Amino acid sequence: MNNRRVIVKVPASTANLGPGFDTLGMALSLYAWVEMSVAERTVLRLYGDEMTGIPEDKSNLIYKVAQLVFKEAGVQVPELDIAMYSNIPLTRGLGSSASAIVGALVAANALIGSPLSDDKLFQMATALEGHPDNVGASLFGGIVVSAWDGERADYVRLAPHEKLEALVAIPAFQLSTEKARHALPKQISMQDAVFNVSRSSLLVAALASGELGLIKHAMRDRLHQPYRAALIPGMAEILAKAADYGALGAALSGAGPTLIAFVESDSPRKQELEHFLLDTLKQEGIEAQTLWLKPCAEGPVVTIEQAEAGTESLGLLERIRGEAV
Ligand code: HSE
Repeated sequence: MNNRRVIVKVPASTANLGPGFDTLGMALSLYAWVEMSVAERTVLRLYGDEMTGIPEDKSNLIYKVAQLVFKEAGVQVPELDIAMYSNIPLTRGLGSSASAIVGALVAANALIGSPLSDDKLFQMATALEGHPDNVGASLFGGIVVSAWDGERADYVRLAPHEKLEALVAIPAFQLSTEKARHALPKQISMQDAVFNVSRSSLLVAALASGELGLIKHAMRDRLHQPYRAALIPGMAEILAKAADYGALGAALSGAGPTLIAFVESDSPRKQELEHFLLDTLKQEGIEAQTLWLKPCAEGPVVTIEQAEAGTESLGLLERIRGEAV
């Protein structure tokens, strides 16, 4: 029996970055860990508050995604020992499901000697998630610009500017991507399409060239944020005024409800911005948690160990203690 033990650390992500709906993603310094080894009988151990209610049998997403990798590679590994710990809040717009999918794909592939390329994993992840933005960022790290035609996803990865820092305000309530997508119109005007093409293009150029001052003009959107605003009280005001409180720009993170504002890391106005976000949400009766995050320049970090027969190995929580718990 293959006695490898694989641990994969995967970053969270923010999708869209305002105008780049289903196209732009950025990896963030908030993580999930997936541990996988071959077992005689399938066991799932899910740790952390975010894991409540997630199935601990073969209907678990991590198990099912791992089986897709084995099928694609033409090998059979029916029984797995899987452990997962995540600091990424669920259903908040920080790519928790994308991180789980990417963690499972990368761990399962590493377990069988990595026969599938990163590009193949990206195609599989995009098909599973339904859009390439979060999975691309979690898989490749940095800022990922991607396009998917329903069959093939193409991407370019950009290195994040070293001074870029993000403040996320994570509301206490959950909002499903399905509900947030349901709020979108079936059609938009040519004027709004042009508005978004120009902002999204400008944003990618600004991020690629390091012209951070352009972000506030470029991070504007007419495709999805105006329609989702009703689902997140306080959002419209935060997006309209964040720059007045020192932000380079602000956006709804993915499908929400998390809001994300960008600053230069040495900005003297970080506290002011944080108060503005929290106070605005509070006025709407919304409790929120704020976190200061950096763009995560790397994709998954993979550790492979050979478990020695007869020796007790450390559990996932003990291995990542200090980093996560
Ligand atoms: N681009 C997607 C959306 C991200 O905005 O619906 C959701 O995960």
